[in-house]
Amino acid sequence: PRYAIIDSDTASDDTIAILLASKFFKLLGITIVAGNVKFENEIKNALFTVEYFNLDVPVFIGSSRPIMGKWRTVEEVHGNNGIGDWKIEEPKISPEKEHAIDAIIRLSKEYEGELEILAVSPLTNLALAYLKDPTIVKRIKKVWIMGGAFSRGNTTPIAEFNFWVDPEAAEIVLNAGFDITIVPWETTEDAAEITDDEWKKIESINSKASTFFINVNRTLREYSKKYEGRGSIHTDSLTATIAYDNSLILQQGEFKVDVETCSISRGAMLVDWYNFSKSKNAKIVLKADKQKFINYLFSILEQSA
Ligand code: BDR
Repeated sequence: PRYAIIDSDTASDDTIAILLASKFFKLLGITIVAGNVKFENEIKNALFTVEYFNLDVPVFIGSSRPIMGKWRTVEEVHGNNGIGDWKIEEPKISPEKEHAIDAIIRLSKEYEGELEILAVSPLTNLALAYLKDPTIVKRIKKVWIMGGAFSRGNTTPIAEFNFWVDPEAAEIVLNAGFDITIVPWETTEDAAEITDDEWKKIESINSKASTFFINVNRTLREYSKKYEGRGSIHTDSLTATIAYDNSLILQQGEFKVDVETCSISRGAMLVDWYNFSKSKNAKIVLKADKQKFINYLFSILEQSA
C-alpha cells in the first residue's frame, strides 16, 4: 500500500477528502490544525468521520493557531459546526494523546521513504514538525498541498484560505526541500465543482456515504450558490484524488514558489513563471481531469453503503 497522513482543518469537504484518502491509502493518521472553524469542532468532525465510516485511523491534535498573525474562521462557508449544521451525536472515540507534530516526526521514521502527506489545510503542523526535526524532509516521500492562489483568491482578492491563514508556515514548508505538488485554488475551481446536476445525482445514490456528503456540504453548497453563483468547489477531495492517481493531472509545471507574508497581499502565492531565480521548489497542477475526479467520487459514494 501507499502510506499517508492527512493534515486537516476538518470541515465539510475535508471530511470527504478523509473518506477518499482512507480508500486510496493506508491512512496512518489525521492531524488537526487551526483553520476553517472552531478548533474543538474540527477535532469533533474528524472523530465523527472516523466513527461514521468505521475507519481505523487515529486522530492527532495539532496546532490550534497559526505561527503568526491573526486569522478568522469561516463558519459562514461550512456551517457553525463546520459540517453544514448537521446535528450529529458526540463521537465516542477520542483523539490520541500524542501531539500531531510528534506523530508526523515518528511516522516519518517508521515509514521512512514511504510516507506521503496530504495537506488540505493551513501548513502550520508540517512547518512546526519540520522546525522541530528538519530531518523529516529526507524521510517524507511526498507532500501534496491544497493551497495557494496565483491570480484570484477566495479569501482576499489574491489569497487562498489555507495559505492566507498561515503564510509563514506555507513559506517554511515550500522552502524546506520536500518533494511538493501544489493543487492551487484556480485549478480546483475548474475541476472540482459539483454542479446542480451532480448534486442531485449524489442525493439519489442514497447510500450511507452520499447522505453524509449531502449533509456535511450543505452550507458550503448554499454559500457557493449565493456568493459565487455556482456549485460547491471540492478542493480537498480533488487533491486527495490527484495524489492517488496522477493521471488526473492534465497540465503541470515546476517553479520557484513563495508566499507573500506582508502587506495587503499576505497569503498570495508568488510563482516564478519565467524562472528568474533558476531554482524550483514545487510542482503546480494547472489543469486537472474533472471527469476522472467525479468518477472516483461517485464510485466511493456508491460503494460506501
Ligand atoms: C481550502 O479552504 C478550506 O475551506 C477548504 O477545506 C480548502 O482546504 C480552500 O481554500
